[in-house]
Amino acid sequence: MYGLINKAVHDLVVTKFGEATWNEIARKAGVNDPHFISMEKYPDEVTYRLVGAASEVLKTPAEQILEAFGEYWTVYSAEAGFGHLLEFAGSNLVDFLKNLDNMHTRVALTFPKLEPPSFRVTDVTDLTDGSLRLHYYSKRPGLAPVAIGMVKGLGKRFNTPVSIRLDRSRANGHDHDEFVVLYGDAARDRR
Ligand code: HEM
Repeated sequence: MYGLINKAVHDLVVTKFGEATWNEIARKAGVNDPHFISMEKYPDEVTYRLVGAASEVLKTPAEQILEAFGEYWTVYSAEAGFGHLLEFAGSNLVDFLKNLDNMHTRVALTFPKLEPPSFRVTDVTDLTDGSLRLHYYSKRPGLAPVAIGMVKGLGKRFNTPVSIRLDRSRANGHDHDEFVVLYGDAARDRR
């Protein structure tokens, strides 16, 4: 994955736990130079190792770290210079989720070797207050918690209560991950 992702992991850890904790995590992950270059492509392995080491050092399940990262990303990516792409992708949660693939296509203009996931939205009941199914296709395993964190972060961005659960998963033999997302009043009593 591009260094931008690893940089965001670094920033999240340093903001919450400080530089010393980060150095311990980087050492455990076998990362020699923990100063990532945003535009450089790193093996996915590096990111997975960082998450694994963070899980050990912080004594927190990896899923929880991935979800926290996903939520952090919705703020970090805006501050890292991609705010306009987020603005462009939609002014409410449902439109935004429908536009995720277009958004990553635009991201690929900056990151030509991007290997983005793909999302599809089905079963939308209402624009502001209802439920939908979010289908997540990825060449990478184990990142459903990142998508969950991102959708929660987007809920905050749009000031919309969100509840999301993994309904069908690759871990259970399905060919992709499928989430049920409740939003607006429909989510209020579920959180
Ligand atoms: C403008 C903001 C965004 C930028 C710049 C961005 C960029 C990226 C980059 C660089 C990667 C790593 C892929 C690679 O390096 O080959 C990635 C992966 C990913 N992105 Fe985005 N992204 C943005 C917003 C979002 C949002 C809002 C979502 C919400 C669902 C999302 C979902 C994901 C997921 C789940 C992955 C994990 C990779 C995978 O499944 O293979 N992204 N994105």
